[in-house]
Amino acid sequence: MPLVSMRQLLDEAAKGGYGVGAFNVNNMEQIQAIMEAARETKSPVIVQASRGARSYSQDRFLYHLMLAATEIYPEIPMVLHQDHGNSPATCKSAIDMGFTSVMMDGSLMEDGKTPSSFEYNVRVTREVVEMAHAKGVTVEGEIGTLGGIEDGHGAGGTGLEHVTDPAQAEEFVRLTGVDALAIAIGTSHGAYKFTKKPDGSVLKMDLLMEIHRRLPHTHLVMHGSSSVPKDLQDIINQYGGKLKPTWGVPVEEIQLGIKHGVRKVNVDTDNRLAITGAIRKVFVEKPEEFDLRGYMKPAREAMKKVVAQRMVEFGQAGHAGDFAPIPLAKMAEFYRQPVGA
Ligand code: G3H
Ligand code: 13P
Ligand code: ZN
Repeated sequence: MPLVSMRQLLDEAAKGGYGVGAFNVNNMEQIQAIMEAARETKSPVIVQASRGARSYSQDRFLYHLMLAATEIYPEIPMVLHQDHGNSPATCKSAIDMGFTSVMMDGSLMEDGKTPSSFEYNVRVTREVVEMAHAKGVTVEGEIGTLGGIEDGHGAGGTGLEHVTDPAQAEEFVRLTGVDALAIAIGTSHGAYKFTKKPDGSVLKMDLLMEIHRRLPHTHLVMHGSSSVPKDLQDIINQYGGKLKPTWGVPVEEIQLGIKHGVRKVNVDTDNRLAITGAIRKVFVEKPEEFDLRGYMKPAREAMKKVVAQRMVEFGQAGHAGDFAPIPLAKMAEFYRQPVGA
């Protein structure tokens, strides 16, 4: 099946009351790990590439790997999404290449670091919505900023400095027409999210519920949703790594979010940890190994295991065959209809 729009996948998820993991990729093995996990669990998938990933992989390679995935896994509906687009130009280049969904992260300025004004965010996001919807492509916006920095992207800090204001979120959706909205409720990117297991005072689930109450038809997105499992940290440290003690977002909190309108759940760090641990283990246990397949195969398998587990936990497992893909041209027609028609 061709790449599908994220709006369709998330509308289906809302109907079924489940969440869909959005997993970051940089190379072939990560795409293969996700697709094998999707086949095993019969899950629809969202594959996302950051700006860093597009530059690392020479994005046309990544795009063609995704086309290969559509041929090899025809039963799996899959979305190719631009993660944290920093400008309308970045989103345009993704759309021109064939991405079926883009995130315009106007919560930060184009440098990907400096928190922006509400007016700036509305302006750039609205521009991307007009450009993307004309082609049937989905748009995710962000209001409030996450903590942490990944690959130079992010506002830094703990994640609690700029949590989302529900009234502003409502206004933002009304002014921009985004399909999905990333909100900041205290999570941050990367491995070092919390110094102890987070409770209600750290993750603002009440805020999420209030945003969902105000925006029942907008698909909410939770970034920074890696759980940073202790067993994956332990493997890395056991085989010579140096991770400091850290906690991620408990899966039960994500599941609570999914009950309250979260439809897209962004996970990158957990897969990075799984891959790194598996490679370190081979290097320590078989120092004579120098065939890259000797360590990339266990790395791919370790990532597949994490992704399959998340697909079950988020509830998307079993839903790959629920719907036929709507062509992007039809999605463009849908967006042309007046609201409420
Ligand atoms: O947004 C963060 C994702 O984990 C992607 O990270 O920018 O290092 O590729 P990256
Ligand atoms: P993690 O760093 O928690 O995996 O978050 C990834 C993310 O939000 C990508 O946009
Ligand atoms: Zn993110």
